[in-house]
This record gives sequence, C-alpha cells and structure tokens, in this order.
Amino acid sequence: MKPPEQIETERLLLRPIALNDAEQIFAQYAADPAAAKYVTFVPHQKIDTVRDFIHTCIDNRKKRIRYASVIVRREDNQLIGTIDVAPEQSKASLGYILGQKYWNQRYMTEAAAALVAWTFLQPEIHRVWAVCDVENVASARVLEKIGMQKEGLLRSWLVHPNLGSEPRDCWCYARVK
Ligand SMILES: CC(C)(COP(=O)(O)OP(=O)(O)OC[C@H]1O[C@@H](n2cnc3c(N)ncnc32)[C@H](O)[C@@H]1OP(=O)(O)O)[C@@H](O)C(=O)NCCC(=O)NCCS
Repeated sequence: MKPPEQIETERLLLRPIALNDAEQIFAQYAADPAAAKYVTFVPHQKIDTVRDFIHTCIDNRKKRIRYASVIVRREDNQLIGTIDVAPEQSKASLGYILGQKYWNQRYMTEAAAALVAWTFLQPEIHRVWAVCDVENVASARVLEKIGMQKEGLLRSWLVHPNLGSEPRDCWCYARVK
C-alpha cells in the first residue's frame, strides 16, 4: 500500500507526522494519563520521548510498516491528535488518539472515516480492522460509527500498561470491501 499524503475532511486535515509536531503532541495528549489509559504507552514525562516516537514514525513510513498522520483542525490549524494505518498484505489496521479537550465532538469519527475510505481505494487492501480495550467505550463507538462490525473478543490480546501488566481482552472490529 502506498503512504497516505494529505487527506482533507470538512473540519480536519490529516498529514504525515513531522519532527516539529513534538511540542503540540506533548501538550495535547502524550503526557495526559486520561488519554493514555487504553493505549500501549505510558504518559510521557519529557518531550524527547515524543521526538523518539516521531523518529520511529518517520522510519516506519520509509519502511512502509505504519503510516502515522497528525490530525489538524482546519479552522485554527490546531494539532488535535494522531491516527495511523498499518498495511499488512491485503489488510490494514488502524490506531488513533485525540487530546482530551477535543473528545466527543465527532473529530475521530471524521478522521477515521476519511482514512478508512482512502485505504479502501488502495486496490490491494480488502480489510481494515482495529482493536480496542473492552472498556474503551468511546473507541468502540467510533469504530461502529465508521461502519466496522464487531467480529469478536480477542482474549488477553494487548498489554495496556496504565491498567496493569497483564494483557487485556480487546474487541476486534473490521470492515471488508
Ligand atoms: C477514543 C477517542 C479517539 C474517541 O474520539 P472522539 O473524537 O471523542 O470520538 P467521537 O466524538 O467521534 O465519538 C465518541 C462516541 O463515544 C461516545 N462515548 C464517549 N464516552 C462514552 C462513555 N463513557 N460511555 C458511552 N459512550 C461514550 C460518545 O457519546 C460518542 O458516541 P455518539 O456519537 O454516538 O454520541 C478519544 O476518546 C481518545 O482519543 N481516547 C484516548 C485514546 C484512545 O483510547 N484511543 C483508542 C485506542 S483503541
């Protein structure tokens, strides 16, 4: 799958993550325990950890492993979150996070719907899927709203380190062409 470039929606712009996004990512979500509750990283203590993360994203893009984009609100050019898509043969998986003050305004539904639509335009991709912690009601709702079906429970699937060291059960959601 080729890397996504810029994707525009009614309110948002998705564009490849860049090193100078570190300050805004740190300020918007990376240090926030509430935003990190159901994800695989612990809240960052310093901005250098965000820079390391961005370097990894840039490297992953070059290696065609995972494509991370920042989500920018067009009306004020504010970075509000990130979203990524990782291709693997005929499948692609989705991940996302938004700064807490932007929750429940349908931003992630808008961003994810656009990225999934773009991904399905890639001829080799037939399935887009995502997982979320069984307790992450907001994320499950986003996946439902973008037309994914709940396919089942993945038991002991992922460690969410802010909730303990044991792998936790996750819902698997997917859409197919
Ligand atoms: C998950 C997340 C991306 C959702 O983004 P968002 O822009 O707030 O999502 P939307 O506004 O498009 O939709 C959220 C939906 O969840 C619902 N919701 C939110 N919290 C809820 C709760 N505690 N109980 C029930 N429903 C809830 C909202 O009502 C909304 O549904 P509706 O449109 O039917 O009313 C955001 O909460 C986030 O970044 N969380 C932290 C990171 C994270 O968990 N990432 C996903 C890992 S799988």
